[in-house]
Amino acid sequence: LKETGVYGLFWDNPHKLHIDLGYADDQCWRMEAEDGPLDYYYLAGDSMAAVVSAYTRLTGRAPLPPLWTLGYHQSRWSYASAQEVRDIACCLREYDIPCDAIHLDIDYMENYKDFTINGERFPDFPAFVKEMRERGIRLIPIIDAGVKVEKGYSVYEEGVKNNYFCKGEDGEPFVVGVWPGDSVFPDFLNSKAREWFGSNYKTLLDCGIEGFWNDMNEPSVFYSKKNLAKTIEHISGKAGKNLSLQEFWSITGAVATLANNPEDYASFYHDADGKQIRHSEVHNLFGYNMVRSASEYFKEYDDKKRFLIYSRSSHIGMHRYGGIWTGDNASRWEHLLMNLKMLPSLNMCGFLYAGADIGGFGQDTTEDLMLRWLALGIFVPLLRNHCTFGARRQEFYLFENKKAIKNLLDLRYSLIPYLYSEYVKSALRGELLYTPLGFLYPNDERAKEIEDQLFVGGSIMIAPVYRQNEKGRLVYLPESMKMVKIKSVTDYREEVLPRGDHYIEIGFDETVFFIAPGKALPLANPVSHVEELDDKNFLWLKNSEGEVDYELYTDDGVTADIRFENIKTIKVK
Ligand code: GLC
Repeated sequence: LKETGVYGLFWDNPHKLHIDLGYADDQCWRMEAEDGPLDYYYLAGDSMAAVVSAYTRLTGRAPLPPLWTLGYHQSRWSYASAQEVRDIACCLREYDIPCDAIHLDIDYMENYKDFTINGERFPDFPAFVKEMRERGIRLIPIIDAGVKVEKGYSVYEEGVKNNYFCKGEDGEPFVVGVWPGDSVFPDFLNSKAREWFGSNYKTLLDCGIEGFWNDMNEPSVFYSKKNLAKTIEHISGKAGKNLSLQEFWSITGAVATLANNPEDYASFYHDADGKQIRHSEVHNLFGYNMVRSASEYFKEYDDKKRFLIYSRSSHIGMHRYGGIWTGDNASRWEHLLMNLKMLPSLNMCGFLYAGADIGGFGQDTTEDLMLRWLALGIFVPLLRNHCTFGARRQEFYLFENKKAIKNLLDLRYSLIPYLYSEYVKSALRGELLYTPLGFLYPNDERAKEIEDQLFVGGSIMIAPVYRQNEKGRLVYLPESMKMVKIKSVTDYREEVLPRGDHYIEIGFDETVFFIAPGKALPLANPVSHVEELDDKNFLWLKNSEGEVDYELYTDDGVTADIRFENIKTIKVK
């Protein structure tokens, strides 16, 4: 360790952790857990990449998502009827916007009940799924952690009958408020409950669904019944009185701390196969095991096929079961930069299938923000445009500069063979898909400071614009690289630039990336959805006078079996 100064430290503890890397005292890093074991692993290696590889050897490697999941995903809270989804699909196709998936947020359900479909708004759901599939679009329904308390609702009744829900101190299912009102949480730490919840996905799988997102699985609590009653009593006692400031603050405080209250998390329990565990001790494992429950069931349902599942909450090790999205960001430029910075961090934790809500989830987006975000998003596995109800609509065909959007999305589809190959190699070898410059140029002090440029796979470096009103940006090249300024596979310019700083102008309708020396990448012809991709005839770009080898991975994109033999070395002339 002393020689390279490179090592990793993985502390395996699901309790609440406090990590302070030099904030309180710049000479000191502190990591504290509220409880739990001091199980930690030193990961040695002669480079950062080797440390990451050692870490994924320990925690397991990410499975492959189906190829179609690398297409563009359209989402919004909520498309609330089949007709609305159909209209969205029509507009996307009409404006020639490539798309592979439309997400169904909570309103597809009947009163927010998991594994139900609102029959009035989505009549004959299997036929509708098929209709969308015929247009090359998959539907991706949301599944929430909270199960509605309702007599006669089979998921609730079965869960109660078999003791599959988390219990309060009184031994009864612990009731909280989430989307459906009174709700209970499946006990994902109990293997039987996990198996049972997972088997419920069958309802939707049988309708032809091939992908899901798991949400509110921290788990998110708007209020517990217990705490809400206490708060209302506290407030109502104050009605009509002349309140002191302290009394007034006690009201706002009580209301503000209703959601996700630590006291609530400490007052319900899991039955981890015979061992009673207080939820707060395993809070971070809840979402993880929710995704595990689905992923394990998918194997049972059809072990020959790949399914998509990604989640909002997660924990170390969950990458073996599914991916994640980074939750409720906002339409703010800082969140675009944060998206960029989080990519290598997530990779280092093992997650390859990841992404953020591009354009921003909360608040109103703007066209310039959306375009710049998309210019990053086209290099990210989960490319999803999602936003909250009430915010300005941000479906791509609603923006003025359709040409720019079209260029960027087409380029995304052209990049898919490269992204897929790099993804698979990273997954099979436990390597990073996004590599910070400091990992690759450890002796270059400038490179180590750069946090706004990344290698995507082994061949290219990206440097997105993430500030408003900027027509370009400064890019640092740690060695000479070939810049590719590209609008489309038939309209691009290449220039070899020397090591050092360069100001690069980047228009809204184009992308810039840099090919490392001796490297190449394939670009496919753009298509309207992934199934149309031609994975044999490419435009090859390379940074070399001579021949360059590129390891291309191709397969049918859906079969679960991933083989090293499918990686073929292509001689790029
Ligand atoms: C949560 C999710 C968000 C979703 C909303 C409604 O806030 O993070 O993506 O749209 O719930 O389901």
